[in-house]
Amino acid sequence: MGKSQLDAFWMPYTANRHFKANPRMIVGAEGAYYLTQDGRRVFDGLSGLWTTGAGHCRSEISNAVALQLNALDYSPAFQFGHPLAFSLADRLADMAPDSLNHVFFTNSGSECTDTATKIARAYWRLAGSPSKTKIIGRVKGYHGASWGGISFGGITANKKLWGQGVESDYLRHTMLPGNEFTRGLPQSGAELANELEELIMLHDASNIAAVIVEPIAGSAGVIVPPAGYLARLREICDRHDVLLIFDEVITAFGRIGDWFAASAFNVVPDILNVAKQITNGTFPLGAVILKDKIYTAFMESGGDSHNVELPHGYTYSSHPVACAAAMASLDILEREGLIDRVKQMAPMFETKVHQLKGTPYVKDIRNYGFAAGITLDPYPGEPTRRPMEVGLACWEKGFYVRFAGDTLQLGLPFITTEAEMDLIVNAIGDTLKS
Ligand SMILES: Cc1ncc(COP(=O)(O)O)c(C=O)c1O
Repeated sequence: MGKSQLDAFWMPYTANRHFKANPRMIVGAEGAYYLTQDGRRVFDGLSGLWTTGAGHCRSEISNAVALQLNALDYSPAFQFGHPLAFSLADRLADMAPDSLNHVFFTNSGSECTDTATKIARAYWRLAGSPSKTKIIGRVKGYHGASWGGISFGGITANKKLWGQGVESDYLRHTMLPGNEFTRGLPQSGAELANELEELIMLHDASNIAAVIVEPIAGSAGVIVPPAGYLARLREICDRHDVLLIFDEVITAFGRIGDWFAASAFNVVPDILNVAKQITNGTFPLGAVILKDKIYTAFMESGGDSHNVELPHGYTYSSHPVACAAAMASLDILEREGLIDRVKQMAPMFETKVHQLKGTPYVKDIRNYGFAAGITLDPYPGEPTRRPMEVGLACWEKGFYVRFAGDTLQLGLPFITTEAEMDLIVNAIGDTLKS
């Protein structure tokens, strides 16, 4: 492949110059493995990008997609509908806890962030509180690359280039000194949620629309919330009339051994965002799942029934092929009991990944379900270099381990065997030792 061809594609969130000098091309996939252009099988230790827990190239999904493409390849998303979108929305509403009964479809996690926060602001306007516009995010949060995503997210590298975003403020992150190498939920740190009270005192609840957090922060390196932290956020939001949004783009549909973090941690947000695993990564689709009170507010203040209640949406919202892919993917998770499998095997994964404690450069390890983050001691002034070197060395050894910021990240396929867990953990350990 000529150099000029590689130069034409500006790759996202990628060190382009490094990649183009050392291309890592993936040409096929099957189960928990990628096939590379140089003919190697590489274990997919991040399930794509936290997308493909049920394994790659599942024929049930490709068959459903092919059938749908041949029956109805596209239908207009505005003012017309197709039955599968309504069935999928019903299914998601049935799965989601409590009164999370209404679904707005998007194509990505970033669009879910924009949609959820736009709806939150409009909801308060309809409720007669138009000054409630500020969104509270959290340091080290990731909610996508849209203006909403970078405004409410809290990862410096994703924010510093762009100037003024949408008005927001931030809770502190929840990585407390002393909690390093905690297995699962840290037992101390729930009081960090009290900072929300301080932000509310600073800005006043009359100016705050919503708080958006990932129940477990994924992209910053699997930051697990202290026990009781999310429940306390919920209490404070209730006390001050602030909506709570859970960004479950990574945590929903099995990653943490439950359908949703909201169910696993027994804390129900007002709005719950999902994407990625909903189609097993095969087709772009996101969904914003909202409580009755929010949907009802829009319907009741819509005026005449010919009025559009929410002037928002995307050409590909509820794309029929995406809906077909989602139905087939959810069928697989249910039929094969993959979410229970993650729950059953998570303690084994926890034990294995924490065996890396004491390995050179390992500063911290965090885990929940089939997700783990490993913070590495940086080269002085170069926080991202060591994880990249380790990730690339693992790739050469046949293991895809995500490197991002100062962390390595694992998001194992739900079908991972015990032997594969050992192999990938050993590959990381051996690489760090050498
Ligand atoms: C928690 C979370 N929210 C939002 C996003 C953005 O999703 P997308 O890349 O599909 O826009 C991501 C992507 O990794 C994510 O992890």
